[in-house]
Amino acid sequence: MATVTYAFLCSGVGLALCERLLSQDTERLRLCLACRNMHRAQAARSALLAAHPTAQVDLLQMDTSSIFSVIRAAQEVRLRYDRLDYLYLNAGIMPNPQFDMKAFFKGLFSSNVITMFATAEGILTQRDGVTPDGLGEIFATNLFGHFLLVRELEPMLCHAGRTSQLIWTSSSNAQRSAFSLEDIQHQTGTQPYSSSKYASDLLSLALNTHYNPQGLYSSVICPGFVMTNLTYSILPSFPAFLWTLLMPLFWLIRMFTNTFTLTPFNGAEALFWLFKQKPESLDPYAKYHSLTSGLGNNYTQPRKMDIDLGTSESLYEKLLQLESEVRRKVEEKKKEAQHAHRHLAGSVSS
Ligand SMILES: NC(=O)c1ccc[n+]([C@@H]2O[C@H](COP(=O)([O-])OP(=O)(O)OC[C@H]3O[C@@H](n4cnc5c(N)ncnc54)[C@H](OP(=O)(O)O)[C@@H]3O)[C@@H](O)[C@H]2O)c1
Repeated sequence: MATVTYAFLCSGVGLALCERLLSQDTERLRLCLACRNMHRAQAARSALLAAHPTAQVDLLQMDTSSIFSVIRAAQEVRLRYDRLDYLYLNAGIMPNPQFDMKAFFKGLFSSNVITMFATAEGILTQRDGVTPDGLGEIFATNLFGHFLLVRELEPMLCHAGRTSQLIWTSSSNAQRSAFSLEDIQHQTGTQPYSSSKYASDLLSLALNTHYNPQGLYSSVICPGFVMTNLTYSILPSFPAFLWTLLMPLFWLIRMFTNTFTLTPFNGAEALFWLFKQKPESLDPYAKYHSLTSGLGNNYTQPRKMDIDLGTSESLYEKLLQLESEVRRKVEEKKKEAQHAHRHLAGSVSS
């Protein structure tokens, strides 16, 4: 029986994961790439098939920032597949990042320098947008769209006698100080990315609490600092050759912090490692870090997250509330559209 893995990619760490999965096993694996941009999705699929011609690689259009798109895509998944073993919740954005040069240079000469490089703590802020559904764009893309998808696919993910895994791509930038239960979308602060990633750490714990008895397990990873589109967008005006010039410095920093994984292949290490684990053996309080040693060896290491059950349950309740509000609005919109359609049909026939 094929293992159906459903991932968000087209580029970066997600695409590297697919490459690694297919290198290991093309026989039993059926991959479904869920992407918002179908041109990039096609290019990703072609690249995977060029290296693995017999692989089964399907595509699905989905924009995690759009309620309608997530619900429609989930319907499509339920129609197409009869099982789903792994769901990689990897889509992530950090739009309009502001790099605080002053804080960076201050951090360079402080005892916090390694942490600053490893987590970008204190040096990155973002200006968030609002989606057409009225949600914070980063919250909707990085967290809520994934949550809604999990809820929509619940019947396929929960079974007696079999396990399924959710694997969230979080970050070391996920900080408790950036998150507030009073503002889960982070509409009032300047660190919506950090808040969304901290929320995914909390949510993963809550999902384990509620779904483990039904065979569904959730884990979080951090890919480390990886050179991807997301990283390049932090300094959009930075010419490509300057990034290349910086690479020797990054290799040097790796001697001090093994979180500088740098390549998507290395960054996908923990995602790949989790694929091979028995989910029952994993620690729901751990974040699994992709790490690369100074000599270039990849390994995965669990590190305790700064989360607690009470806060994770409160977030879960708030997400369920938001889900019912969102579903109510979707129903209202549907009724309005049906009403308008009937009205139009009536005026045409008369
Ligand atoms: N790079 C790092 O150093 C780093 C560190 C910590 C955590 N992360 C996390 O790692 C994950 C992967 O990022 P990456 O570094 O590999 O960057 P990336 O190459 O930009 O990958 C992000 C992926 O998410 C997809 N995506 C973004 N918004 C989406 C939406 N609304 N609907 C569907 N897909 C969407 C992107 O699709 P498009 O191709 O259409 O843009 C892209 O395939 C993210 O969750 C990120 O937060 C990265």
